[in-house]
Amino acid sequence: MAAGLGLRRALMGPLQAAAPGDFDFLECAPDNWIGVGGRFGEGLRELSAKHPLVCHGLSLSLGAVEPFDETYLLKLRRFLDEHRVPIYSEHLSYCSDDGQLYDLMPIPFTEEAVHHVAGRIRQVQDALGRRIAVENISYYAAPYQAMPEIDFINAVLAEADCDLLLDVNNIFVNAVNHRYDAHDFMRRLPGARIAYYHVAGHYDEAEDLKVDTHGAPVKPGVWELLDTACAMFGPRPALLERDFNFPPYAELVAEVATVRDTLRRHAPAEVRHARA
Ligand SMILES: [Fe+2]
Repeated sequence: MAAGLGLRRALMGPLQAAAPGDFDFLECAPDNWIGVGGRFGEGLRELSAKHPLVCHGLSLSLGAVEPFDETYLLKLRRFLDEHRVPIYSEHLSYCSDDGQLYDLMPIPFTEEAVHHVAGRIRQVQDALGRRIAVENISYYAAPYQAMPEIDFINAVLAEADCDLLLDVNNIFVNAVNHRYDAHDFMRRLPGARIAYYHVAGHYDEAEDLKVDTHGAPVKPGVWELLDTACAMFGPRPALLERDFNFPPYAELVAEVATVRDTLRRHAPAEVRHARA
């Protein structure tokens, strides 16, 4: 059962020296690696030769109105081919406003936005020559909602005919902040489209306000939600996202092992026994 870890520059040393079984795959943001040479570029090549690498984009801005940067899409396609990347994902959000803002903004949940975003996803899939996955994001200021978030996500996935990166921490955070039931929400997702899962830590600002930080260990409620997702949809590759405030590497490996144990609990009996 595949449990992965985010490839961040701060982790380059430990990842290069990793023991077999520390993680099953890595994930990087290609935006931060395209065109990078020197020690880090070399490190990336070495790691992607040794481990499967999936990519999670930051800056395509699927919800925006500005045309895509065709040159960037071409570079991205080459990068995905060069590193034999099996899954490329992006956020179901927009982040550009006359430049690149890395804050991810929610898209208004309207019929018009469904057609707009689905068309943009199709453009990206055509340009990259592959299916992509889009991630459910966490958001704080609720966008205009002509339809519930779950209907918006499902309509986009169907119209774009793309896959879903299911971030269970984002569902946990949104469910608390926007007062909905996380299990009901997940039950309505199209399980067959889930390419992989994300788990991450968040910050408890208040009882009714959680902030998606990727800077802390995964909380018990999020582990439970990963377990529920595996029970509903079956185990899929799952990635631990940690972007800053890094603990000792051994602690990350222990969290990756918890991810793997969670997936394994839901694997068919023959797989569980073969790996026991
Ligand atoms: Fe995520």
